[in-house]
Amino acid sequence: MPEATEKPARSKDSVSNTLIVAVALSLVCSVLVASTAILLKPVQQRNEELYRQQIILDVAGLYEPGGNIDTLFENIETRMVDLASGKYTDLVSAENFDAIATAKDPELGVAISVDADIANIRQRARFAPVYLVRKDGEIDQIILPVYGSGLWSTMYGFLSLAPDGSTVLGLRFYEHAETPGLGDQIDKPDWRGKWPGKQVFGVGEQPQIEVIRGFVDESVDSAIHQVDGLSGATLTGRGVTNLLRYWTGPEGFGPYLAEIRGVAGND
Ligand SMILES: Cc1cc2nc3c(=O)[nH]c(=O)nc-3n(C[C@H](O)[C@H](O)[C@H](O)COP(=O)(O)O)c2cc1C
Repeated sequence: MPEATEKPARSKDSVSNTLIVAVALSLVCSVLVASTAILLKPVQQRNEELYRQQIILDVAGLYEPGGNIDTLFENIETRMVDLASGKYTDLVSAENFDAIATAKDPELGVAISVDADIANIRQRARFAPVYLVRKDGEIDQIILPVYGSGLWSTMYGFLSLAPDGSTVLGLRFYEHAETPGLGDQIDKPDWRGKWPGKQVFGVGEQPQIEVIRGFVDESVDSAIHQVDGLSGATLTGRGVTNLLRYWTGPEGFGPYLAEIRGVAGND
């Protein structure tokens, strides 16, 4: 009977051992990364919410560096608006409302026709939050979320309007990827300072607000709707014009602002 041959010991460096170690290591790492991401998600969401609230407070002129954001934000009332009717609604909650995710929802979002899509956002939620700042019980500021395409990126900001629904009190962008030194002037104090006092609406119901190329000629009637252009960043400026006109126009907060301005029923 032939002598049984002893099976050679598998080398530690064998292909199968290497594969087993690699697969086990990948599994452990993916579990670690996934659990960290899940654990940190609420913290991340909370920080994003605090940042958004800080920007709203800032555009409202209520931000105090070092102040407690939650406490300061108690001065601001958040309401949801049905954009088509321009009326307040309780159908959706403002808490954790995500405009971009909602825009893609088959029931809660709407596709924007190519002709109407001047902000180049393709779809939007049917509802949007507005932030109301009161003084002695009366509405003192109406803050609207606005967003749309610049040259390189989607630019997200807040527009603060006076209770007349047309006078700009402030404009603040907080997220974009326009070029540093060029398009990023949109969130610099110098340029932000050019907005207060400008009028969104003039004669007629379409928004007239506009970032022009070059400097505003204060002697012309249209100057009240115009803001100086951004040198070397005309395209970003055009994006700002388009997104403001979209969100204050009939597809955006136009019906809501018409109610406020007492011109509801006009287009
Ligand atoms: C590297 C680079 C970055 C640019 N970034 C921007 C920008 O963020 N926003 C913008 O409007 N134009 C930007 N431009 C310039 C545009 O391509 C375009 O030339 C400009 O908007 C024209 O504006 P002007 O008429 O004010 O010069 C950039 C150009 C280069 C080469």
